[in-house]
Amino acid sequence: MKKIVISLGGSVLVPSLESNNISRYVSVLKRIAGECRIFIVVGGGGEARRYIRVARELGAGEAAADELGIMVTRLNARLLIAGLGDAAYPRVAETYTEAREFAEAGKIVVMGGITPAQTTDAVSAVLAESVGADLLINATSVNGIYSADPKKDAGAVKHEHLTPQELLDIITGSRMDAGANTVLDIVAGKVIERSGIPLLVLDGRDPENLYRAIVEGAFVGTIVSEESSTPLLS
Ligand code: UTP
Repeated sequence: MKKIVISLGGSVLVPSLESNNISRYVSVLKRIAGECRIFIVVGGGGEARRYIRVARELGAGEAAADELGIMVTRLNARLLIAGLGDAAYPRVAETYTEAREFAEAGKIVVMGGITPAQTTDAVSAVLAESVGADLLINATSVNGIYSADPKKDAGAVKHEHLTPQELLDIITGSRMDAGANTVLDIVAGKVIERSGIPLLVLDGRDPENLYRAIVEGAFVGTIVSEESSTPLLS
C-alpha cells in the first residue's frame, strides 16, 4: 500500500472549535484509509495564534510561545483521533519514531507539532521522509501556491507545477515579507528538496478534494516535484 502524509492546517480542520470540520474529514479519511496508509499532521490554526499572542503579551519568549502552539496542535490532533475512533491509533505521536511504531498497528497515525521554531509543515515533510512516504499533501486554505498573495493581489497567478528548487526560491524570496503568502516554511522546503518526495498543495476547505486527488487522481492545486506529474496520480 502507498504511504501518504497529509498536513492538515488547523484553520482548515478547526476554523473554530464549534464550527469544526472534523466529522467531514473523518468520513473522507476513513474512505482513503481503505486505499493507502495515511499519516496526518494537524496544525494549530487560529486557536494556536490566540494562545501565542496572549503568551507574548504576558512576556513569554518566542520558544515558550511556540511550545504553547505545539500544545494546541496536539489538542487538535487528539480531537481528530476522537472523531476517527477505532480507525486511528489512540495516541498523538510526539516523535517521528513513535509515529513509525504506531503505524505498525495498521491504523491512521495522527501527530501535531514537535519542536519550536517551525510549523507543522516542517513536521509533515520530515515525517514523510522518516516513513518513506510516496506522497506528501498539504491541505490548506488556498488552492495552490501563487506568485503573490491572491487575497491581496488580483494579478496573482497559480503555479500548476514547481520543482523543489523553485519552491525553495519562492520561500526564501518572500521570507522577509511581513504577511507573505508562503504556504510552507523553510524547513519544509529544504526537506522536500532533499527527500525528493512529491508534494501536492490543495484546498482542504472541502475534504472531498483530498479523496479526489488521492483515490481518483483528480487534482486541482500545485504539484511540487522533479517530474510534472506524480506517479500516484497518473
Ligand atoms: P501550525 O503548524 O498550525 O502553524 O503551528 P500555522 O502556520 O499557524 O498553520 P495553520 O494556520 O494551522 O495552517 C502553530 C504554531 O505552533 C508552533 C509555532 O509557533 C506555530 O506557529 N509550532 C508548531 C512549533 O513551534 N513547532 C512545531 O513543530 C509545530
